[in-house]
Amino acid sequence: MRLILLGAPGAGKGTQATFIKEKFGIPQISTGDMLRAAVAAGTPLGLEAKAIMDAGGLVRDDIIIGLVKERIAQPDAANGFLFDGFPRTIPQAEAMIAAGVDIDYVVEIDVPDELIVERMAGRRVHTASGRTYHVRFNPPKVADTDDVTGEALVQRADDHEDTVRKRLQVYHDQTEVLVGFYGRMAAAGNAGAPRYIKVDGTQAVEKVRDDV
Ligand code: AP5
Ligand code: ZN
Repeated sequence: MRLILLGAPGAGKGTQATFIKEKFGIPQISTGDMLRAAVAAGTPLGLEAKAIMDAGGLVRDDIIIGLVKERIAQPDAANGFLFDGFPRTIPQAEAMIAAGVDIDYVVEIDVPDELIVERMAGRRVHTASGRTYHVRFNPPKVADTDDVTGEALVQRADDHEDTVRKRLQVYHDQTEVLVGFYGRMAAAGNAGAPRYIKVDGTQAVEKVRDDV
C-alpha cells in the first residue's frame, strides 16, 4: 500500500504515521525527518537545508525529489510506504506521477491554523526516531523522556511562533493546492488514481487514528 499524509504543519501527520506504519508494516518516509537527520549529521545537504528550514521555507524541489526517489528504491519500500510531508508542491507530485509511482490513498488531516501554534509550542520530539509528543495533548509517560528508549526529548528548531506562522503561510501558498490536485485525480477515477480521504484532525489523537 502506498499512502500520502497531507496536512498543514502540526496537523498531526507524524503522530498518525506512527500508527499507520505499525498497522500496515510499511516504512514512514518523512522528508522532514530525512532533512533533520542530514542537518544533525552535518552533510552538505544538511548545511544547505538548515537555514531554509529554520526560516520556515521549502527546500528545493530537485533536491527533495532526488532524496525521495533514492529512498523508495530501498528494499523496505518494495511493498509500499507512507509519505509524510511529501509531496509539498505540484512539481513534487508530478515527479512521482512521471516516475510511475501510483498512490493508493491520500489522507488529508484537516486542522485550522488557530490550533496549530498551540500544538507546535507544546511539541517535544525524540530526534533519533522522530517520535512525537505534546506536553498536554499526547504526553510521554515520564516528562521530557521518550517512552521507548528513555532518552531525552527536545523541541524542534523551527517550532518558534514566528517560524510556525511562516510555515503555515508557505503551506497555504504552495502545498494546499495539492488538496485539489489529488481530489480531482480521485474524482476522475482513472487507472492508478488514488482514493481521497479527509479526516477531522481537531479531534483527540486516538479519534483521529480511528478515523484514519
Ligand atoms: P516537516 O518535518 O515535514 O514539518 P511539517 O510539515 O511542517 O509538519 P510537522 O512535522 O511540523 O507537523 P506534523 O503534521 O507531523 O504534526 P505532529 O504529528 O508532529 O518539515 C519541516 C521542514 O523541512 C519544512 O518546513 C521544510 O523546510 C522542509 N521540508 C520537509 N519536507 C519537504 C518537502 N517535501 N519539500 C520541501 N521542503 C521540505 O503534531 C504536532 C504536535 O501536535 C505534536 O506535539 C503532537 O503531539 C500534537 N498533536 C498531534 N495530533 C494531535 C491531536 N489530534 N490533538 C492534539 N494534539 C495533537
Ligand atoms: Zn512531522
